[in-house]
Amino acid sequence: MVLYQSLAYETEKLISDGVLRAGDRLPSVRQVCRTHSISPVTVTQAYYLLESRGLIEARPKSGYFVRARLGQRLHEPAMSHPVGNSTELQVSDFIFQILHSVKNPSVVPLGSSFPSPYLFPFDKLGRFLSQAARKFDPLSTLSDLPPGNEELRRQIVLRYLSRGAVVPTDEVVITSGALEGINLCLQAVTSPGDLIAIESPTFYAGLQASERLGLKVIEIPSHPREGISLQALEDALRHHPIKACLLMLNFANPTGSLVSDERKKSLIELLRRHDVPLIEDDVYSELYFGPQAPLCSKSVVRNDHVMHVSSFSKCLAPGYRLGWVAAGRYAEKIVRLKLSTTLATTIPVQIAIAEYLKHGGYDHHLRRLRQHLAVQESVLIEAVERHFPPETKLARPAGGYFMWLELPERVDALKLHKMALDQGISIAPGPIFSAKREFGNCIRLNFGHPDSAQQQAAIATLGRLVAAQL
Ligand SMILES: Cc1ncc(COP(=O)(O)O)c(C=O)c1O
Repeated sequence: MVLYQSLAYETEKLISDGVLRAGDRLPSVRQVCRTHSISPVTVTQAYYLLESRGLIEARPKSGYFVRARLGQRLHEPAMSHPVGNSTELQVSDFIFQILHSVKNPSVVPLGSSFPSPYLFPFDKLGRFLSQAARKFDPLSTLSDLPPGNEELRRQIVLRYLSRGAVVPTDEVVITSGALEGINLCLQAVTSPGDLIAIESPTFYAGLQASERLGLKVIEIPSHPREGISLQALEDALRHHPIKACLLMLNFANPTGSLVSDERKKSLIELLRRHDVPLIEDDVYSELYFGPQAPLCSKSVVRNDHVMHVSSFSKCLAPGYRLGWVAAGRYAEKIVRLKLSTTLATTIPVQIAIAEYLKHGGYDHHLRRLRQHLAVQESVLIEAVERHFPPETKLARPAGGYFMWLELPERVDALKLHKMALDQGISIAPGPIFSAKREFGNCIRLNFGHPDSAQQQAAIATLGRLVAAQL
C-alpha cells in the first residue's frame, strides 16, 4: 500500500469509528508531516483522496475539516430474513423480462450490471489483441485448449500470490467469464434435485444457473454490510443435505457486503467440518476502496474443496468474456465439463490478456478505476440522501459499484422499476435477487458510471417516484 493511501485509510477509520466527528478540524499538513515523519506531498495526497471521497473538506485559510458524514443520515438495513426452507426455482422468465429493459443504451443505467465502458483501457487491450491475432501460432489451437493458455494461467497464479494465496497453475481453468465458471463448478459438485446454499439476497444469475441445473436452493440470511450469517449457515448445514455453497464474500452483488477476513476463516473451517464444497464467486475483489485487497477463500487456508471463480469482466475487459476457476481438487472435472460444452475460451483473447497482465500496467489501471468508483460512490450517496425519503436505508459498500437501498415498506420496487423506465431510467428491483421474489421494497443502484447532470436528474426523479408511492 502506498504511504498516502495508508494515511488516508487511517484517517478514514478515525472518522468511521467516530473519533473524528463532523466539524472537527484535522491536524494541519505540517503537524502530520512532523508526527508521521512524511513529506507534505504525501499528506496533501491523502487529504485530497479523503476530500474526493466526500469525507473531509478544505476551508480557505482554516485547514481541513470532517464533513457531515455521507451515508450517516440514512440508517443501515438489517440482516435479511428469507422465508421458508429450500425451494425449487422458477425465476428465469421473470428475471429475463426485467433485464431486457436494462439493455436499452438511451436509458440512464442505474440498474445495469456493468460499470461504464469508458473506465477501461480498451485501446491498449485492442493493441494486445491485434498483436495476438497477427502472431497467432496455429498450434495454440491445440495447446491452449482447456485448462487454457499456460502464460495466462501463470499470470493469474502470480496475482493470487500477491494476495497471499498459493494456487498451483494446473488448478486454474480458463472459462468464458465467471458465469461459465459458476455453471461448471455447480455441475462438478451437484446433480439435479440437489440442494445448495446461497446468500439472501443473491446474484440473479446464480439463481438462473441453479434453475437450469434443476437444483434447489436454501437462502441464508445475510447482512448488507457484513455478508452471510455464519450462525444461520451452520444451522442450515446441520439440518439440510446441502451439497455446495455458492457465495460472494467480497463486495457481493447486489448488497456490496464484505465478509471480514476473520469471518472468512471461520466460514471455510465450518464448511471443512461439514465436508461441503465452496464455490466463491469473487468478481469484484479488485475493486476495494480500503488500503488493500480483501482476502479470498484461497488465501485464507489451503483447501482443495474450495473453487474460486473470477473474471476480468468487471475490472479490466468487459465483453472479452475471460474468466477462470481456481478449482482445487475439481480442476480435472471442470476441464472435462468445459471440453464437452464450449470446448475452449477464444484463444487470441487469452493470449492478449496474458500479454496485458505482463506488460499493460494492470495495477496502475486498477488504482485509477478504484479511485473513480470510490468518488462516484460518494456522489451517489449524497444524491440519495438529498432526494430520497429519510426512511430510506442504505449500507455503504467498501468496494464494487453496487448500492443496495431498502425503501420504505409501502414502496413497490417492481412498480418503481416500471415507472422509472417510462422516464428513461433503469433500476434493478429487489425481487430479482431472491428465489421467492422477496425484497419487494429494495432496489440496487449502479454507481459505476461517471456522475453527470443526467444521472443527478435521474436520481432526483427516482426520489420523486418513491415519494409518490408513499
Ligand atoms: C457476482 C457476479 N458474479 C458473476 C458475474 C458474471 O461475470 P462474467 O461477466 O465474468 O461472466 C457477475 C456479473 O454481473 C456478477 O455480478
